[in-house]
Amino acid sequence: MINVALPKGRLGEKVYRMLSGAGYSCREFSPENRKLVFTDRENGVSYFWVKPADSAKYVELGAADVGFAGKDILAENEPDVYELLDLNLGKCRMCVAAKEDYREDTLRPVRVATKFVNVARNYYVKKGRDAEIIKLNGSIELAPILGLSDVIVDIVETGATLKENNLKVFETVFDISTRLIVNRASYKFKYGEIEKMVAKLKEAVK
Ligand code: PRP
Repeated sequence: MINVALPKGRLGEKVYRMLSGAGYSCREFSPENRKLVFTDRENGVSYFWVKPADSAKYVELGAADVGFAGKDILAENEPDVYELLDLNLGKCRMCVAAKEDYREDTLRPVRVATKFVNVARNYYVKKGRDAEIIKLNGSIELAPILGLSDVIVDIVETGATLKENNLKVFETVFDISTRLIVNRASYKFKYGEIEKMVAKLKEAVK
């Protein structure tokens, strides 16, 4: 039996549809009910819904053998897992954005609001730019509007949130998509089952 952590919400349902297309459909599955665990005995897979931001933790600590996480979460938390496949789903970008008329003052540290403090810190360290990182938990776009920060480092998907708040992208930090991740010990001990799932998903991605 392999344990698979699915990210709750729209992305998880897309991932599940991809799994179904790859031959891993489960009769018990229903995104409508509140059940957190469902088991597909025929294929030997047990699924559970987790918060997307937690899926890498379940996999790293071995509660799940396989999971699905966005590149944003992987870059921020750097979990000790194998990243085996890009699912080409949940595509968006990690960006530096600010008010449309923002002009950088290089004489002082740039103030950066973000949920992704490690991503932001690494980005400015690489640039050799002093930065003051302000950790927020959501509605990051408010920070430059209220003068709490100069810029934000955040996810941009359609760009609608930025546009509606008169902000714009100044730089792209990296592209994001959903990755299949695997626990290191599981990959050794359940190699056959996991490789079979990865190979089938690879076909489905194509
Ligand atoms: C994310 C992100 C942006 C928005 C980008 O927020 O932080 O605010 O989506 O999407 P868009 O480019 O399509 O407008 P999320 O919806 O996760 O909410 P949050 O404010 O709680 O971070």
